[in-house]
Amino acid sequence: MDNETLTITDNRTDQTYTVPISRGTIRAMDLRQIKTGADDFGLMTYDPAFMNTASCQSAITYLDGDKGILRYRGYPIEQLAENCTFLEVAYLLLNGELPTEDELGSWNREVLRHTMIHEKLKKVMEGFNYDAHPMGMLMGAVAALSTFYPDARNIFDPASRNEQISRLIGKMPTIAAYAYRHRLGLPYVYPDPELCYTKNYMNMLWKRTEPKYAANPVIAHALEVLFILHADHEQNCSTNTMRAVGSSHADPYATTAAAIAALWGPLHGGANEEVLRMLDEIGKVSEIPGFIAQVKDGKRKLMGFGHRVYKNYDPRARIIKRVAEQVFEVTGRNPKLDIALELEKIALSDEYFIKRKLYPNVDFYSGIIYQAMGFTPDQFTVLFAIPRTVGWLAQWQELLGDADQKIARPRQVYIGQDARDVVPFAQRGKLQTVTA
Ligand code: CMC
Repeated sequence: MDNETLTITDNRTDQTYTVPISRGTIRAMDLRQIKTGADDFGLMTYDPAFMNTASCQSAITYLDGDKGILRYRGYPIEQLAENCTFLEVAYLLLNGELPTEDELGSWNREVLRHTMIHEKLKKVMEGFNYDAHPMGMLMGAVAALSTFYPDARNIFDPASRNEQISRLIGKMPTIAAYAYRHRLGLPYVYPDPELCYTKNYMNMLWKRTEPKYAANPVIAHALEVLFILHADHEQNCSTNTMRAVGSSHADPYATTAAAIAALWGPLHGGANEEVLRMLDEIGKVSEIPGFIAQVKDGKRKLMGFGHRVYKNYDPRARIIKRVAEQVFEVTGRNPKLDIALELEKIALSDEYFIKRKLYPNVDFYSGIIYQAMGFTPDQFTVLFAIPRTVGWLAQWQELLGDADQKIARPRQVYIGQDARDVVPFAQRGKLQTVTA
């Protein structure tokens, strides 16, 4: 459209500028021409936390936060969760299309071929303290993979890139399961390539002395769905980290380790662990009003509520609630569910939450299911990291093929001291006293 432009008048100079609008955005660099004089650097935008800045173009995930819509490569999340396996969705995210039967067969084999880890990586993991947090172990082990696969630095070689992608997706459940068993003092269980992705993960988590692990199909299906729901979520904090670190052309293991670090924070993927701790602290339904009052006083946060983009019910939380019922039929009902449901009911009818459009997010119910399955809260964020690795790698791959991208390097608005001279050591105290 010819009129897809923005005209700006700089009232400091009375100059007018016209900049193009493309896909609802203007290029920040187009503002640089707006200057008060030859010495002026030019106008910048100030946007801490990227509240209104698109950092990339992406064809992977579509999210409409006001309508509560989430789609991977155009497919609604509800349909993918209903009809697909996790590795099918992983293929879709990485390649843009759902696989044919043949493509899925070779993709499954390719990923499962990589589920073993080097014995020396096992030793690295054995070196962690008995009570090491599983996210710390995961992050450390994934970073250590860089040292085992130096060819991963060939990030512009598509064959090497594909090899690292299937390698990392294959190894994540193994590393995660070893971290789980390490805390319990149990011997690590080797992957079983005859099992599918989630059943093999369950085998490595929970196999004891039986010759062949038999996974409960309801739990395996629930894990598939939970993995699909967590696989990508466009430019969230950890994906932005993946892209920022990837933009320096670090290898995919180092880059993924950085994304894991970002995910671990309690405002991001670490929230699922915090939700369970919060529910434990609340303890019983009668304590909820007192807790809500503390949240409204700004003393506490209702963990698992709120989202930067969703200002309507998180569609993933809706699906998780349904999965919870299926899991509880096998495991028995987690009593925390009653507290969570009541908390949700009270919060959703309270003016504080309605005004701020705070709804349950993906982390509100996932921990309750994971706990019923037998995971301790410190494992919950690991269960987020395994599937999100697919999204991180899809976004990393897209970044490397995007001619618009360069090393990520934001500008700043300097608010510190003007230039000044270093005062000799002996005079510093005196000078501070004089100027105080
Ligand atoms: N409990 C109470 N008040 C909240 C909450 C909450 N969980 N979240 C936001 N608010 C309030 C916030 O205090 C602010 O109020 P006011 O306007 O009076 O200052 C208002 O709502 C807007 O919040 P914000 O902090 O400006 O929102 P944000 O977009 O910067 O933060 C968030 C988003 C997810 C970090 C935040 O909602 C939060 O901390 N939630 C709890 C942690 C959580 O559940 N995180 C998981 C996110 S979803 C999964 C993932 O992507 O990892």
